[in-house]
Amino acid sequence: MEERLQKKIAESGITSRRNAEKLIQEGKVLVNGEVVAKLGTKVKDKDEIIVDGELLEKQSYEYYLLNKPRGVISSSSDEKGRKTVVDLIETEARIYPVGRLDYDTTGLILLTNDGKLTNLLTHPKSKVPKTYLAKINKVLTMEEYHKIKEGIVIDGRKVKVKNVKIKKKNPNNNTSFVEITIIEGRNHIVKRLFESLKIDVIKLTRTNYAFLDLGTLRSYEYRTLTKDEVTRLYNYVRNK
Ligand code: URA
Repeated sequence: MEERLQKKIAESGITSRRNAEKLIQEGKVLVNGEVVAKLGTKVKDKDEIIVDGELLEKQSYEYYLLNKPRGVISSSSDEKGRKTVVDLIETEARIYPVGRLDYDTTGLILLTNDGKLTNLLTHPKSKVPKTYLAKINKVLTMEEYHKIKEGIVIDGRKVKVKNVKIKKKNPNNNTSFVEITIIEGRNHIVKRLFESLKIDVIKLTRTNYAFLDLGTLRSYEYRTLTKDEVTRLYNYVRNK
């Protein structure tokens, strides 16, 4: 990943962006052993940067894909002392979840300490598709199905639905499973969408996020993302 030298220095926390610019212009910054006195020079993650005699620690990023269980909150701390998704991952790094799943929603959630990727993925303009499997308290009618497909308006904005599929109907106990792919990140959006049709969501699971899926991960299980997956996520949001 390439970044402007002064931004990279400021992000490391050793000094402010303004002071970093001053130090660069004064010739006090070395990149791979050479003085770089030009502002805006692009540097890579692997470059060795020395600022006024001090070596910049290379930030190492961690990326996890968790199959979130019910009854766990999607944040890094909770004032009520409830278990968080971060508590489920064994790491020393200060990771946090990318976006949110409700307390009672299960499934795929990413965690990382890479703020830049998090911002890109959660930005309202990023069009990352997320697929959910919803168990609802009725058998969906074709009329309801088409309403969802065409886009239901919530708070004055159409919910961007990419796909809807009725996966299973249980007329005996009057429930069904609906798979829905949404290209936005408003809170409780799936529940609110069904609620607008007077339908209750009994269970909700996120099965996919961009090109990622849960694979064979069971509830509570997690894995790290591969380098290739991280690069693909960056490209995914940048090429939108
Ligand atoms: N939509 C919801 O209603 N809840 C979630 O947790 C995610 C999407």
